[in-house]
Amino acid sequence: MMKRTFLFLIGLAASLTLQAQIQVSVHETAQDQPVIPAEIYGQFSEHLGRCIYEGIWVGPDSSIPNVDGYRKDVVQALQDLKVPVLRWPGGCFADEYHWMDGIGPRENRPKLVNNNWGSTVEDNSFGTHEFLNLCELIGAEPYISGNVGSGSVEELAKWVEYMTAENGSMAELRARNGREKPWKVKYLGIGNETWGCGGDMTAQYYSDVYKRYALYSRNHGGNRLFKVACGASDYDYEWTRTLMKNAASKMDGLSLHYYTVGNWNHKGSATDFTPEEYFNTLAKAVDIDEVLTNHEAIMNAYDPQRRVALLLDEWGTWFDVEPGYNPGHLFQQNTMRDAMVAAFSLNIFQKHTARLKMANIAQIVNVLQAMILTKGSQMVLTPTYHVFRMFNVHQEATYVPSEYRCGAIVSSEGRLMDDFSACVSRNAEGVLHVSLANPRLDKPVTVELAFDQLKPKAVSGEILKADRINAYNDFDKAPEVAPATFTGAKISGKKVKFILPAASVVVLEVK
Ligand code: AHR
Repeated sequence: MMKRTFLFLIGLAASLTLQAQIQVSVHETAQDQPVIPAEIYGQFSEHLGRCIYEGIWVGPDSSIPNVDGYRKDVVQALQDLKVPVLRWPGGCFADEYHWMDGIGPRENRPKLVNNNWGSTVEDNSFGTHEFLNLCELIGAEPYISGNVGSGSVEELAKWVEYMTAENGSMAELRARNGREKPWKVKYLGIGNETWGCGGDMTAQYYSDVYKRYALYSRNHGGNRLFKVACGASDYDYEWTRTLMKNAASKMDGLSLHYYTVGNWNHKGSATDFTPEEYFNTLAKAVDIDEVLTNHEAIMNAYDPQRRVALLLDEWGTWFDVEPGYNPGHLFQQNTMRDAMVAAFSLNIFQKHTARLKMANIAQIVNVLQAMILTKGSQMVLTPTYHVFRMFNVHQEATYVPSEYRCGAIVSSEGRLMDDFSACVSRNAEGVLHVSLANPRLDKPVTVELAFDQLKPKAVSGEILKADRINAYNDFDKAPEVAPATFTGAKISGKKVKFILPAASVVVLEVK
C-alpha cells in the first residue's frame, strides 16, 4: 500500500527536508474491503505485580473508591476506552492457575504463591466471578487462558462447564456461589506459551495435547467457544507450520506473541533513552509487519480459505522495571515513545485483518506497556491509553485502502522503517477516520489527503504530542502527554491539508 522513496535516513542523520511533503491517496470508493475487528484493540490482564490487585481490584472494603471491589476510576477509564476483549488470567500465570481456588466465599480461598512473578502471595480474591463480572461491567468479551501446563483436561472441561452450562453440578455450584445465569464466554486459549512457561513442549507434542484439551472443552447451551491454539513467539515460523499442519482443522484461532524488546539482558529504561534508542525501539516494533506477513503466508498455505484466525494475544514494549519496584512485577513507565509504538502498531494491524482478528496489548494496568498506572488511590492515563482511545473510532469500521510515498529510517541496529504511518476507515455513518503518525523528532511533515471522489465538507481531529519524546504522565503532577483538539487541518477543494508536527500522532474525522 505504501511506497518508500529511495531516500534513506541513516540513523540520526535525518536532517534532509526533501520528503517533508506526503500525499495520501484515499480510495474511499474501493469495494469489498474488510471490517476492522474491534478485537484488534484487545487487552491482556494477568495476575502479575499490581495489574489485578490494586490496579483493578481493591476489594469491597477498600478505602479506594470502588464498585463491588473494582476501582471506580479504572472502571470508568476502561469504559471510555471501549475495551472489546480482555484476556485473563495469564500469561505464564495461567498455567499454574487452578480456577477452583478462586470461587466461593473469599475468606475460604487458599493462598497462592505466584511462582512466575516475584513469588508474591495472593489470596485468590479475584477469581472467575470477579473476572467475568468485570467483563460485563466494561462491556468486554472475556478471553480465558486455560491451564494446560499443570492442569488436567478434566479441570479445564469443568471450568468451561462452570462458566457456561445451564444445568448440571457445575452450574449448580456456580449458582450457589451467587451466579444463576451462565456467562457468555467466547474465547478460550488452550494453553499459553506452551513452548516455554506453559509446559516446555515441542510443537509436535503440543499439537496432540491441543486437540485433546480442545475436544473436551465443550459448547454448553447456546455458548459457542472460539478455541485458540497456543502459537509461536516472534520469528518461530516452524511452530506455526507444525500447528497448522497437525491441528488446523480443530482450531478457530492460532496465537502469536511479539514483544518490542531490544536485548533481553539490557532492555533499557522506559523513560531515559537517547534518540538512537528511540528509533531502535520503534523499528523493532514495526518489524511486526513482516513477522505477521510471514506467519500469515504459512497459514495461507494450509488454510487458503482463511478459516483459522491469527491472534496476536501478547504484544507491546518491554523495558527495565522502574527503580524501587519489585523486579518480578514488570512495572514500567510509558512515554510518548510508547504512544508512537502503539500508533504504528495499530495502523499495521489494521492492514492485516484478512487473517489477524485480534491483538491484546500487554498489559492493561501497571504492567509493561500499560494503559493505566495506579499508586494507592491515584491513577494516571498513559500516552498509550490516549492512542488507544483516539484510534478506537476504527473499531468495526470498514478499512479504506490508501497509498502514499514516504521516506525511510534505518535504525542503528540495521532495521528499516517508514518515516510516516497512516490508516483510513469508514464507519457505519459513512464518516472517514484517518490515523497518522510522524515519528521524526525534528521534522514536521506537510500532508495532503486526496480522495477518489469525496468532496470533504468538514474536518476535525485530535493530536497527541509532547515537548519531548520521553515525556510521561506521573502521579502528583499535571499530565505531560494529553490529547488536544487539532485545528490544523483545512479543506482545500477536494483535499484536506495540514502539517503533522514532529513526533506526533493525529486522528482526523472527515465528513
Ligand atoms: O506479559 C508478561 C509475560 O510475557 C506473560 O506472562 C507471558 O506469556 C509472556 O512471556
